[in-house]
Amino acid sequence: MSPNTFFTSVDSFSEHLSKNNICVCVIGIGRIGLPTALSFANKDLPTIGVDINSKLVNSINSGKYPLNDEPEFDKIFDKVLKTNFFSVTENISEALKKSNVVILSLPTPMDKNYVPNYSALLSVAQDLHDFIQHETLIIVESTVEPGFIEDEFIKIVEGKNKKLTQNIDFSIVACPETANPGEIFSDFHKLPRLIGGIDEKFSKITGKLYNHVFNAEIIYLPNCKTANAAKLTANVFRDVNIAFINELAMLFEKMDIDILKVIEACDRKYNFQAHFPGAGVGGPCLPVNSYQYLNTARKTFDGVLRIIETAREINEHMPHHTVEVVADALNESGKSVKNATIGILGISYKPNVADIQLSPAEEIIKHLEKLGAKIKIYDPFYKSQNIFSHICDDSLFNVIENADALILVTAHNEFKNIDPVTLFNQMKTPVFIDTRGIIDIEFAKKSGLIFRGIGRGGK
Ligand SMILES: NC(=O)c1ccc[n+]([C@@H]2O[C@H](COP(=O)([O-])OP(=O)(O)OC[C@H]3O[C@@H](n4cnc5c(N)ncnc54)[C@H](O)[C@@H]3O)[C@@H](O)[C@H]2O)c1
Repeated sequence: MSPNTFFTSVDSFSEHLSKNNICVCVIGIGRIGLPTALSFANKDLPTIGVDINSKLVNSINSGKYPLNDEPEFDKIFDKVLKTNFFSVTENISEALKKSNVVILSLPTPMDKNYVPNYSALLSVAQDLHDFIQHETLIIVESTVEPGFIEDEFIKIVEGKNKKLTQNIDFSIVACPETANPGEIFSDFHKLPRLIGGIDEKFSKITGKLYNHVFNAEIIYLPNCKTANAAKLTANVFRDVNIAFINELAMLFEKMDIDILKVIEACDRKYNFQAHFPGAGVGGPCLPVNSYQYLNTARKTFDGVLRIIETAREINEHMPHHTVEVVADALNESGKSVKNATIGILGISYKPNVADIQLSPAEEIIKHLEKLGAKIKIYDPFYKSQNIFSHICDDSLFNVIENADALILVTAHNEFKNIDPVTLFNQMKTPVFIDTRGIIDIEFAKKSGLIFRGIGRGGK
């Protein structure tokens, strides 16, 4: 498919779009890329998903939907798989040769030294240079630092001596994805799209395309770096505010003040925005995004963004603080962490999703083991799986009845019905640490549990 007039104007693009004469390629069909590809195919646009993970590609080709914690897309998956509009492949060159629009949903993690790693994007940039057809719109949905597209990515796509020409052979638009895992379907239609391109015409073309597929507002930004800064700022705002609340939580624990009562009262004021304390901030976004900004400052003016740096320090301390809280509660029961059997309830970094990337549970488990604890894990998304070098239990009851202490790390729905009286009756030693504020503190105490919560007041 090669609509040669695709690049001339927004109107000409719209005309091709109205005839479904635009072939879309989504590179990286993971948590974000697969729902994206399915959304385009569901609008009858020919869509090719590309991934280097052959297991994933084979399993999708055999009809297995891989994102069981992402509702709604399972139905779209079954539907589009029966049409000619959706296919997946490992063969990037063939896919690029057929495509007019290429959307990049590639991972942008960080390395062990907290330095953002853009190797997937940089490697695909070379493939784009080598294989795209004339007039290809490249949309970068991955989360990158402001300036990465302009300073590094575009140069590889152009190639040496600028063999490919911007706005003739290709154009690049940043449309950083802001959807939340577990809620991607509703977020795709609810959250505004941030769009900023190298050239305004292609921002508008991208806006037309996204309007055609998603029922969401478009926010046009002046360029790629501003769009990427908007994406990072929204997430880092959360990381910083959670750190602020975590710091207060540690103070309030010593003062017998329940932070949830404080937040509830503050939230009545129109310009307060509630954030909640916890065992730490994980996932592929918030921690990485803070380090992306820290990296940007280092590169741009050899500087430090002090608030973000401190926020990271506090949030990364929270798993250790959680262990201190457990040790204190066990002490009250006459036990110590050493040789205690400690049950971890929930290892995902966020409720109701199967994702353990940078989960605070890992740090808590490591630290407890160093102190000599025996660990048991229950998470409804990881039953019987080997995670963090432990086989997760497949029965919540087993973990409860063997535990000297339970730490609720993730507020999965399944844990919301936990009854403190039942816990008191079933646990070996009734020590319960609620790091996510889901248990009523008065009820917990009346039940006889030795109860602690992050920021929930004294003993
Ligand atoms: N997961 C989230 O919560 C979320 C939300 C908003 C934005 N984002 C951003 O979206 C981007 C993608 O994140 P994700 O969570 O979907 O990642 P993911 O790890 O779930 O999926 C990425 C996919 O890319 C594939 N891949 C890696 N290198 C490749 C290559 N060279 N060629 C082809 N495929 C390759 C991987 O095999 C994987 O399937 C990241 O930049 C992330 O920061 C993620």
